[in-house]
Amino acid sequence: MKDLTPPRSSLDPIEIASRDEISALQLTRLRWSLRHAYDNVPMYRERFDALGVHPDDLTCLEDLAKFPFTMKADLRANYPFGLIAVPRTQLSRVHASSGTTGKPTVVAYTAGDIENWANLVARSMRASGTRPGDIVHVAYGYGLFTGGLGAHYGAEKLGCTVVPVSGGMTQRQVTLIEDLGPATIMVTPSYMLNILEQYRRMGLDPRASALQVGIFGAEPWSNSMRAEIEQSFDMHAVDIYGLSEVMGPGVANECVETKDGLHLWEDHFFPEIIDPETGAVLPDGEMGELVLTTLTKEGQPLIRYRTRDLTRLMPGTARSMRRIAKITGRSDDMIVLRGVNVFPSQIEEQVLRVQGLAPYYQIELVSRGRLGVMRVHVEPVTSHIDAAMRDTLAAMLAKNIKDVVGVSSEVVIAAPGSVPRSEGKAKRVVDNRYRG
Ligand code: DLL
Repeated sequence: MKDLTPPRSSLDPIEIASRDEISALQLTRLRWSLRHAYDNVPMYRERFDALGVHPDDLTCLEDLAKFPFTMKADLRANYPFGLIAVPRTQLSRVHASSGTTGKPTVVAYTAGDIENWANLVARSMRASGTRPGDIVHVAYGYGLFTGGLGAHYGAEKLGCTVVPVSGGMTQRQVTLIEDLGPATIMVTPSYMLNILEQYRRMGLDPRASALQVGIFGAEPWSNSMRAEIEQSFDMHAVDIYGLSEVMGPGVANECVETKDGLHLWEDHFFPEIIDPETGAVLPDGEMGELVLTTLTKEGQPLIRYRTRDLTRLMPGTARSMRRIAKITGRSDDMIVLRGVNVFPSQIEEQVLRVQGLAPYYQIELVSRGRLGVMRVHVEPVTSHIDAAMRDTLAAMLAKNIKDVVGVSSEVVIAAPGSVPRSEGKAKRVVDNRYRG
């Protein structure tokens, strides 16, 4: 893999500013954001007043802990435009995140918000090793989902040539990669594996493609998955994080030269880690739920938004801004099995450790009597295996899961191609426990 470290002169000065400079900027912007929310969003005025806090009470960054949280339910309750802080006519775009049930949550942007977002995605892409002039293949979905358009505007801002493919039609994805020769691909990691499989099906060598960098996010993925993709395509695999409520992709991004966690762009978002049970703010380094406050958002500012994503804050390395550890899962994706907490990404790591198994998996939860049972559906890399080999692979995976994750599981090795493939965010868990 090529060294794609961006020249220091190409970075935004704030990316390598001192901690003091970053904190000073955050304090000024935080004051503005609290005031903007209080003055223009009735929900925030009511909540602040009810708690007896006022934007003027913020004298240092730690004072933010006095202010109330915002939850996804608040966005639903104020659907569609109840939380906007500017006249509706000043909005230039809306996106939405599709909840599993009920109404989507709408997020609104002013032209200024879209501009900031494009700049942050451009910064994220530069950190990933993409350079102005590169061809960028965007296979995140276009539409209400923030992935496609978010990536698109950022790539244009960086000065790249964008190929706006969106998701789906996997054979055409491969043809376009082969014919147009993009240096960067932006796609969910699970869909990248689907593209990899298509390469092999078409008899093409993925390592010979023009791709040098993949910018993968929108779902949890393990470092084992990173190794698998980097090896298969001979390219860098870099992590991008974001969520539609707060902006979209580009809230945090890894640096290609270190790949040691995602630098959170602290000039636009203020991070806190809290204990998800008590809501107390935890010191840097401790695992908990990520809470984000927007510092520059005009259209729909969010104060202390509870993301449900579990991670920890770490000091800066390649950039001065703090990093979040790779997100292992959301508090609401956690499987609790006989008292043990399990995240799909932990199962993923074990699947990828067993040679002879393909990197596709789905977890099914079933009930047996009053107990929940975890069934892990996987596939062998080849259909030319006998029953004994199948049993060996199943036993190896079950043992790894038991030894490392600490739960018993039933491993089902089905025919190659039978585990559902993803064209966007993968569905990792199917819960059949409470069915009939
Ligand atoms: O997934 C935005 C996005 C698009 C991020 C493209 C990165 C790339 P939502 O659909 O609102 O927005 O889903 C946000 O996805 O709260 C996390 O739980 C999860 N997520 C996003 N990025 C990562 C990541 C987009 N790199 C939710 N690692 C978030 C783990 C991620 N989980």
